[in-house]
Amino acid sequence: TDRSREPNCPGSLIVVSNRQPYRHEYDESDDERSVSVDEPTGGLTAGLDPVCQRTNGTWIAWGDGDADFDVADDRHCVSVPPSSGAYTLRRLDLSEDAVDSYYRGFSNRVLWPLCHGFTDLLEERPNDFEWYRSVNDQFATAVADHADDDSVVWIQDYHFALAPRTIRDSIPSSAAVAQFWHIPWPTPETFRDCPAAVGILEGLLGNDLLGFHVDRYAKNFLECVERALPSATVDRDRHTVRYDGEATTVVATPMGVDAKRYDRNARSADPSRLSSVFSTNGVSSETVLGLGVDRLDYTKGIPERLAALERFFERNPRWRGSFTFVQKATPSRTEIPAYQRYGEFVRDEVERINRRFATEDWRPIVYTDSYLETETLAALYRRAEVMIVSPLVDGMNLVAQEYVASSSDADGTLLLSDRTGAHERLGSHAFTIDPTDVDGFARRIDDALSTPRHERRRRMSALRNRVFDRDIGWWMATQFDWIRRVHDDRQHEGHS
Ligand code: G6P
Repeated sequence: TDRSREPNCPGSLIVVSNRQPYRHEYDESDDERSVSVDEPTGGLTAGLDPVCQRTNGTWIAWGDGDADFDVADDRHCVSVPPSSGAYTLRRLDLSEDAVDSYYRGFSNRVLWPLCHGFTDLLEERPNDFEWYRSVNDQFATAVADHADDDSVVWIQDYHFALAPRTIRDSIPSSAAVAQFWHIPWPTPETFRDCPAAVGILEGLLGNDLLGFHVDRYAKNFLECVERALPSATVDRDRHTVRYDGEATTVVATPMGVDAKRYDRNARSADPSRLSSVFSTNGVSSETVLGLGVDRLDYTKGIPERLAALERFFERNPRWRGSFTFVQKATPSRTEIPAYQRYGEFVRDEVERINRRFATEDWRPIVYTDSYLETETLAALYRRAEVMIVSPLVDGMNLVAQEYVASSSDADGTLLLSDRTGAHERLGSHAFTIDPTDVDGFARRIDDALSTPRHERRRRMSALRNRVFDRDIGWWMATQFDWIRRVHDDRQHEGHS
């Protein structure tokens, strides 16, 4: 693979995502209330932003109460980045009802639990689906405003399962529509519980290209199509579905991280930044450090991790006082009861385990849900001897890759759940865990801590090769190669 390849989009790019790449905020200390702009931080946003800049594209996202509505034109468009204004960011100003039903409702009370196989958490509320449809239509209309003959529309994630079909029907036929589904796709048995299953599949088949992280999800998707849409033709060898006169190519491309940036940040990170996290927690430079970094989400297996740590300290008293596990959690979707209950349970468990083992100058678990700056997180990643990534289900898991990229001394160890997309590439050199097997998991923590240095380095070097080889640039270049093919097909059909 050619790592230096710059991902290039075959046409003018229109990105559609729920979250926006830039946030405008008022400076409250300033009487003029001047507006300042946050740079993109997430991996996907940081990766797509330069491509959008090169193609003078458009990015359409939910405005989420942004201060930009004062600086924008009447379509709520602003030019970003502020320095060059290379592309248009269009923000949709969604009503509170719309957000509650589309985002907190159908997206995160139905599709998220369903696709992760947590059907017991699936919650169908009246109107949620209708709002989901109407917000998808709103995005589709916005896309149509900006699309021309040569456009490439690239939709991100499960917030937009219906939009592709509407977009397809309302933009020039020579323009291409693609989508990447960043979470798992469930088996047909699970997908049966999906309200509006047929509409969801038909919506997604409006895409010329549909991407997943791993083959298993793509396969599940094709099986769901076969079962729910008898008139669709699935060609597994050519990875395509024909439905209603149109073809959709379905591919698997595992997403990567900006490995070089994580490595650079880790190398330059100042360890003294960690004193803010550690000062009162009895962590010294001698302490062996374990680390978990997760959104506070019921898919992430945090209680299972805590149970394994408890078992580990029970069985290995020699580690009491010298090993500390730091759990950095990012509160997420906190208006949804399942997330509130989960957050409370995690915090209670941390307290209970700490009460059980803590001594006067040591605590087994340091929990923080405060915001950590990029530099602090980089210092933490580099400092941690053992990283634990233990989701019960995870489409990919980028944190595991971030840790590997940040392990600049090739000296850390990664414990990785075999139920993550990331495990398909990293499993053979990570310490594999089954998050639900408390005893096995606890033994793996002990194994990781007892592994001799040369073996740790051998494993980590192999992991680093994989993460650097298939980084975010590779992922985007691969997706754009596929997009180029479907775009070429469209352009030919359009002119024949
Ligand atoms: C997952 C989803 C993303 C989402 C992120 C954060 O990674 O695939 O689409 O943006 O979680 O969740 P949030 O609901 O805060 O956007």
